[in-house]
Amino acid sequence: MLDIRDLSVFYGDAQALDGVSLEVGAGQVVALVGANGAGKTSLIRTVAGILKPRGGSIRFDGREIGGLDSHRVCDLGVGQVAEGRQVFPSMSVLENLQVGAMLPRARAQAAVTLERVFAMFPRLKERAGQLAGTLSGGEQQMLAIGRCLMGAPRMIMFDEPSLGLSPTLVAEVFRTIRELHGQGMTILLVEQNVAASLQLADRAYVLENGSIVLEGSGTALLDDPRVKEAYLGL
Ligand SMILES: Nc1ncnc2c1ncn2[C@@H]1O[C@H](COP(=O)(O)OP(=O)(O)OP(=O)(O)O)[C@@H](O)[C@H]1O
Ligand SMILES: [Mg+2]
Repeated sequence: MLDIRDLSVFYGDAQALDGVSLEVGAGQVVALVGANGAGKTSLIRTVAGILKPRGGSIRFDGREIGGLDSHRVCDLGVGQVAEGRQVFPSMSVLENLQVGAMLPRARAQAAVTLERVFAMFPRLKERAGQLAGTLSGGEQQMLAIGRCLMGAPRMIMFDEPSLGLSPTLVAEVFRTIRELHGQGMTILLVEQNVAASLQLADRAYVLENGSIVLEGSGTALLDDPRVKEAYLGL
């Protein structure tokens, strides 16, 4: 579904991604692992159309999306749950969700999607009128995921969805991702809980200094001595 070939991305003269190739098959969970500054967020932001690639290609369903505007990419079905909880604090929960469904394809199915989001996160339904900025951290993360779903994505890129959450809420975020996977959603997952993300992943890639250095099935990488040492602290 997502096919990235030889992607390079720069911030000015500084290269963030160098010849990255990565594939996410339909219905798969693919984990992207890497240390701070490796380029994980840069990759997600480039696929989302926020950063422009300098070289290489990004195909979504066979169609080149590299360099398209972010709203075009979003309307094609590429969703992202960005790093940090990017909710609009002075808008209500319901308004935040409605913002997620502004593009034409999503708007056409917004009423149905809203019921699905409320079924998945009953807490958001209970608090529909509450200002998003007054939600707890975990609730804000649920709202960020719910808002992404409102865009009727066909693939979701998660950037550190459990960052800063308590263990119980981390488990809830993973439960949500598993549930979406069970419904057939295609997922690219960046998670600092490397073990948990590799357990969930059909395939995984390790990114170091802007390049892929290792790839394989989630279980193969869990057993890889380099991964154990560098990312699992074993
Ligand atoms: N707006 C920017 N301007 C210049 N350099 C940037 C910018 N954003 C990121 N970088 C640099 O690009 C490199 C990759 O950053 P990126 O945020 O993609 O890493 P990451 O893998 O997501 O790290 P983390 O795990 O800390 O979130 C880093 O060296 C970072 O300093
Ligand atoms: Mg990042």
